[in-house]
Amino acid sequence: MAKRKFPTLHKFNDMYTPPEALDYIVPYLDKSLWYWEACFGKGHMAYELVRRGFEVIGRPELDCLNSVPFSRWDFLITNPPFSNNKKFLARFIELGKPFATILRLEHLGGVKALELLTNLDFCVIIPEHRINFITPKMMRGEKVGGAQYHSIWLTYGVDLPRQINYVKTPERK
Ligand SMILES: C[S@@+](CC[C@H](N)C(=O)[O-])C[C@H]1O[C@@H](n2cnc3c(N)ncnc32)[C@H](O)[C@@H]1O
Repeated sequence: MAKRKFPTLHKFNDMYTPPEALDYIVPYLDKSLWYWEACFGKGHMAYELVRRGFEVIGRPELDCLNSVPFSRWDFLITNPPFSNNKKFLARFIELGKPFATILRLEHLGGVKALELLTNLDFCVIIPEHRINFITPKMMRGEKVGGAQYHSIWLTYGVDLPRQINYVKTPERK
């Protein structure tokens, strides 16, 4: 397997997306588009989107800060590492295509956020409940507590009803 081009990340970055995080955004996503899961990780988000009928591409070894896929992609969707997340946000904006990225709510604030977002026609989805990400500990079957922070979807080029959208947690079957 090809070697990763990006440095090993600290533990907070290996927080994978559970299916319920997608419940908040999927109703607003266009199934005719091709999605690039840019920070693929172990594929939790990508495989869940595929399961829900989306066309998704992505590879764990592709460094999204410096490369883009060769194949077609219309929309970037991801949950990037928490550390240096503004670098990722800047990159997604720079690419100029529609995107949806998970972000900690508190990361909407700060000098860099102001610089990146002041003139961007972005929207946010604020889920009713905190998202409990899948951690390596959880995957080993160890007991873990709930999320200590609130996460949001930050979107660009998605047709949402308002700029700030509070979304109730849908009932899961
Ligand atoms: C918070 S995890 C989420 C993984 C996946 N997006 C998900 O939703 O389950 C962030 C992932 O980004 C990956 N990553 C870190 N730097 C990256 C880069 N420059 N390009 C692409 N992926 C990167 C890490 O390996 C990590 O698996």
